[in-house]
Amino acid sequence: MGIRGRGIIIAIDGPSGAGKSTVARLLAERLGYVQIDTGAMYRAAALLIEQSGIDPADQCALENFCQGLDIRFENNQGRQTVIANGVDVTNQIRTPEISRLTSRISALKPVRDALIVSQRRMGGEGGVVLEGRDIGTVVFPDAELKFYLIASAEERGRRRFEELIANGEKVTLQETIDEVVRRDIQDSERDIAPLCKATDAVLVDSSSITVENVLDKMEDIFRAKINRTGTDL
Ligand code: DC
Repeated sequence: MGIRGRGIIIAIDGPSGAGKSTVARLLAERLGYVQIDTGAMYRAAALLIEQSGIDPADQCALENFCQGLDIRFENNQGRQTVIANGVDVTNQIRTPEISRLTSRISALKPVRDALIVSQRRMGGEGGVVLEGRDIGTVVFPDAELKFYLIASAEERGRRRFEELIANGEKVTLQETIDEVVRRDIQDSERDIAPLCKATDAVLVDSSSITVENVLDKMEDIFRAKINRTGTDL
């Protein structure tokens, strides 16, 4: 048994488009861990808030709404799906509109308070790879292993652009790069849980190395950590 029951907690934070989702999914697969995409949770919350018609500025209404949020992940034939209040929103939460809305909604305290409670419940037993912006700083400051994954804005914009085009969205590369930079500013300058590197996080720059190289590096650090602490996998 690991020190938390199921293994350690691995936090992967960083700006949008740095490759966190791919790396978190593949690292979790390699280690037999569970992946928790906290960005998807904020996206699902933003979608539900928009659909509910409540005014995000109405603190009391927002708090009540967020207390009732039920966002979970389900494995559907090897693919992770996002279920929000009983509805599969996996595809709906990936549009540029929802990305923009989520960046605003995720800055609101009632939303963060509610989602952090779920994230701690989902990840507290360990054996998890959580990806987000504030995992190593706020959600699990005591996570055993923390990574801060970065890449240049141009590279992140290019990756996002390819994803959006593959999904049939009509965008230009420059628009996508501008959007990435805009979201970085919004995510880093907000008052609550701004995007920043935890002092004890390992910085990994994925700009010019392959996903496999990133994973090998992370796995090496994981094994070294486990051997040092004498924790079983
Ligand atoms: O990782 P992503 O692009 O799916 O994240 C969507 C938005 O949610 C992004 O604007 C940042 C925000 N977010 C956050 O504030 N805290 C997290 N732990 C994860 C995402």
